[in-house]
Amino acid sequence: MKLACPICRDVFDTPEKKCPNCGDEHQVAVLEEERLLEESEAVTRESEALGLSELVGAIDSVIIQVAPGRMADTVNELRGMTSLVPSGCYQSEDHLWCVMFPKHPPRFIVKEARRELQNPFARSNSGEMTREDPNTRMETFVFDVNDIEKLFEVQKSRGVSFLTDNILDAGNYRFLQTTPSEFSGNSVGYIQWETDDRNYMGKTDDVAHIDLDEGTKDFVQYVDYLDHTATRVRANDRIEAIKEWLTLLPYYFHMSVYVKSLNSITNVTRMVGQDYAQVFTTGIVPYQGLSAAYEPTERFIVDYGTRVHHLAWNTSRIEDVVDSLQTEGLRFLLELVGSEEEGLKQTFTEPSANSMLVTEYIHRYADFDGFFTKSNVTELTRATGIR
Ligand SMILES: [Fe+2]
Repeated sequence: MKLACPICRDVFDTPEKKCPNCGDEHQVAVLEEERLLEESEAVTRESEALGLSELVGAIDSVIIQVAPGRMADTVNELRGMTSLVPSGCYQSEDHLWCVMFPKHPPRFIVKEARRELQNPFARSNSGEMTREDPNTRMETFVFDVNDIEKLFEVQKSRGVSFLTDNILDAGNYRFLQTTPSEFSGNSVGYIQWETDDRNYMGKTDDVAHIDLDEGTKDFVQYVDYLDHTATRVRANDRIEAIKEWLTLLPYYFHMSVYVKSLNSITNVTRMVGQDYAQVFTTGIVPYQGLSAAYEPTERFIVDYGTRVHHLAWNTSRIEDVVDSLQTEGLRFLLELVGSEEEGLKQTFTEPSANSMLVTEYIHRYADFDGFFTKSNVTELTRATGIR
């Protein structure tokens, strides 16, 4: 059996439930890799049997909520850092939001509340650093569906719970949204388009006139599409969070990468034929009370709750992009790491003051589909602990 010892900060293969190095019996956690593989494959098989891969297509959009008054700044920030361009802003009684179109989906919807509202994400948003800004979060991953009624029936029969009792008919589209996950805090949306123009204005919404930055910088054309997002989840919820994602969408569990010295596992899920990967980063063992320098993943959850830590953009000419952003004053958590020979170059920005999100720029060479190179996985994980 595989054991993790937080005292030795190592993972061991051992027949006894006892650390073979320090002998500690109480601190070890049994790593259930076999259970993860068996149970995730079973969920994928069940999703396949229920026809999920025929019902659900590619990612359509993501929804980010920011604090009141921050929406325009967030849209301007995203425009300055990525190929996203605003296409329209709208308002309802409750929210004000802008839609941003990239070169390839997902589109981004950035919203803020117009009045005090009950927030279904409140519990997950809560952390030591979020008291002043309790509603900011990357909330929802929305996927295209072609038969929303059937999808609704299938998922209700599996115990999936939704924020509404019925499918929302917005005119241009019909929409459903799951109750935020108790494991990851994230929600999944299902959208069925009724028109071809992908207009996110609902039939009871109005156009909003928002003063946004004009013009696009040259270098952002090299920031191509959303490659993956990484959500921080507690060590004990690792298997359930992954299984839940595979229940909600036709994804499969792809692989895990351990960083033993930093109590962190990067777990990757993918959908066949799609570029966008969903990553869950968890502790190996539950939070040990150390600082972000020693266990950045679990400490992040104490500070910010379970949430998306970073959005990774697949970027060509990554050196030019990073140089240009640095010249404009954007700060990075580490230098550009990796090389063409290793298959990847990547780096992380500091978290956004608007969205709390870190941006990763990632250049993949020759179809490399990993998320780190062997030589830099520890360095990158350590960088995520920098505050
Ligand atoms: Fe990443």
